Amino acid sequence: MTTLWSGRFDAAPDAAAFEFQKSFRFDRRLFDEDVTGSLAWARALGRAGVLPKADVDHIEKALGDIRQLGQADPRFVDGDDEDVHSFVERVLVERVGDAGRRLHTGRSRNEQVSLDVRLYLMRRIPGLQRNVAAVVEALAAQAVAAGDALMPAFTHFRPAQPVLVAHFFLAHIAPLRRDYQRLAAARDEADALTLGSGAVAGTSYEIDVAALAAELGFSRIVANSIDASSDRDFAASFHYACAMTMVHLSRLAEDLIILCGDGHRFFELSDALSTGSSMMPQKKNPDPLELVRGKTGRTIGHLLALLTTMKGLPSGYNKDLQEDKEAIFDAEDTLSGCLAAARAVIGGLTLNRAQAAAAATGLLLATDVADYLVRRGVPFRRAHEISGGLVRKLLAEGREFDSLSLAEWRAASEFFEADIAAHVTSSASVAAKRTPQSTAPSAVARALAEAQNWVARASG
Ligand code: ARG
Repeated sequence: MTTLWSGRFDAAPDAAAFEFQKSFRFDRRLFDEDVTGSLAWARALGRAGVLPKADVDHIEKALGDIRQLGQADPRFVDGDDEDVHSFVERVLVERVGDAGRRLHTGRSRNEQVSLDVRLYLMRRIPGLQRNVAAVVEALAAQAVAAGDALMPAFTHFRPAQPVLVAHFFLAHIAPLRRDYQRLAAARDEADALTLGSGAVAGTSYEIDVAALAAELGFSRIVANSIDASSDRDFAASFHYACAMTMVHLSRLAEDLIILCGDGHRFFELSDALSTGSSMMPQKKNPDPLELVRGKTGRTIGHLLALLTTMKGLPSGYNKDLQEDKEAIFDAEDTLSGCLAAARAVIGGLTLNRAQAAAAATGLLLATDVADYLVRRGVPFRRAHEISGGLVRKLLAEGREFDSLSLAEWRAASEFFEADIAAHVTSSASVAAKRTPQSTAPSAVARALAEAQNWVARASG
């Protein structure tokens, strides 16, 4: 086995203990970032006069070759090494000898691992953002296709008021756009150069950290070398952004599972994105949506796990922090898989207009009845009572508002006129809404156009 620290020890490491503390199995995913960081460090050492130009040249050439070998065949990134940093250094020394042995001058794996993870997140988060934008795009396409179709919106999961189906899809677009921003903020938080921090106290070589930051694409440098080695806030923010996105995907999945189900049938799931039962031939199950909902738990778990790990640690690097990586990779894979599944399911939805509209009428219009009275000067509390009294009567008689004669309306209140019938329909209800965030058709059209512009910007 190869270690970077054998000099201080009399005995070779215990094989099982060494195996236990290795991270190469999973941190090999940081190979590219580790090479990038090492190349930049070699150049910085050259500029600082620590490494002769010839050494820098040899290291640059060898790391370039190593990167190519790793990219061409992932099996190259393998061995009995402790972690990806040890691996890169070993294969470098195998190629350039002492020049390679000089690369780690003034540098620590503590800052290196943070650097690698930060570079990784900065490179990968934009892909997740594009996947979020693709889900928004699919939702916007459904909103366009829905046109003026109606459905009920729910509170307490009881049918509450009529809304445009487009408004329902926009209700899932809004949180995903916040998630897009949260991912951008997580990327910004990762954007700080740790090199120059050394193991904990900084480095004693004249490293131009500003130049190093610029070369690696960082817009700033960490504020404090001790903090730099303990800090995993950026990883927690990434998990929070992922978990929050998953919570929103889970809500969407739950809505669709129910609204595509037998109790509602507002939408039909594409056969291609459903699964059957091994026993019951009639079943058409929404497995992809259930998995999206189910996987939300593990992404929330990753956030909690990291916070719990961080909570127990004193300042400076502690090996506990090695636990950060598998969770980051899993959160990324889980989120991107779920975004792809959600996008496909949304793209394959068919709206059952009649079914959805039928559920958006009836006693759901009771608020509109009260609003009618308010417009004629009745105080809202009184109007609510009158409408509630009518609901009670209609429920008892198994009827709906549209069955009431003018005489029956006027028996409830003399403020009702013949035009009440035209006010108490689901399309009149949505048309009566006045605020920009409401389900009024003009407001929805504006919101949808704005969402489409956003998609064009976000995916462009
Ligand atoms: N594999 C380690 C990690 O992931 C790299 C840093 C090791 N540093 C140390 N002082 N042992 O955190």
